[in-house]
Amino acid sequence: MIMASLTEMQYTVGDRARASNANPIHAAAICRLIGYWADQGLTIRRDLRSVVTSIDDFTVAVHRQRVVGCGAVCAVGDGLGEIRSIAVDPGAGKVRAGHAVMDALLGKAQVRGLEQVLLLTKTPGFFARYGFEAVGAEALPGAYAEMIASEPGRTLDGKVAMRRVVVGVPVSV
Ligand SMILES: CC(C)(COP(=O)(O)OP(=O)(O)OC[C@H]1O[C@@H](n2cnc3c(N)ncnc32)[C@H](O)[C@@H]1OP(=O)(O)O)[C@@H](O)C(=O)NCCC(=O)NCCS
Repeated sequence: MIMASLTEMQYTVGDRARASNANPIHAAAICRLIGYWADQGLTIRRDLRSVVTSIDDFTVAVHRQRVVGCGAVCAVGDGLGEIRSIAVDPGAGKVRAGHAVMDALLGKAQVRGLEQVLLLTKTPGFFARYGFEAVGAEALPGAYAEMIASEPGRTLDGKVAMRRVVVGVPVSV
């Protein structure tokens, strides 16, 4: 009985997606993942060029040598960052790819010295699990609102703006 439980536990732990910093060879897979969810209206499409030029911002979740998740954190202003382009392969199975991506991105935000991160989403329940709280559009820093307005196709419409303090907050949840 004990042996069976141990085996099950090792399988579960070993069968999780692992996060790593993205590099240009991941760019096409990242575009595909984001594109899949953009078709459902949940992410903003990114082209290959925009992903390659911002590849240092990206984290990928890999499972059995396959990219099954991605996300990015970028600086918006002094101490302020944005988490965006979170996308997990719906066929990845229960490998906690979203968790791996969020954990790694919050770590990356800390390493970069960001004090708070913002995001816009139609899936606030997921981000609430990672300590994000909804904020009214009027409370968004001007630099962030301007950045959103300057990007073609980006809008606050139908989305929840969320914020999380980074500095001094444990990364793993
Ligand atoms: C939301 C998304 C990233 C979750 O990825 P995932 O790999 O299924 O997430 P995980 O399995 O790692 O789940 C981590 C935790 O979040 C929870 N969770 C997953 N999806 C959730 C959702 N939509 N709402 C609330 N909680 C959610 C899980 O139950 C799990 O909780 P636990 O730690 O208590 O077990 C994925 O479904 C996705 O890519 N959705 C479409 C794109 C999208 O909405 N991106 C955000 C745009 S900003």
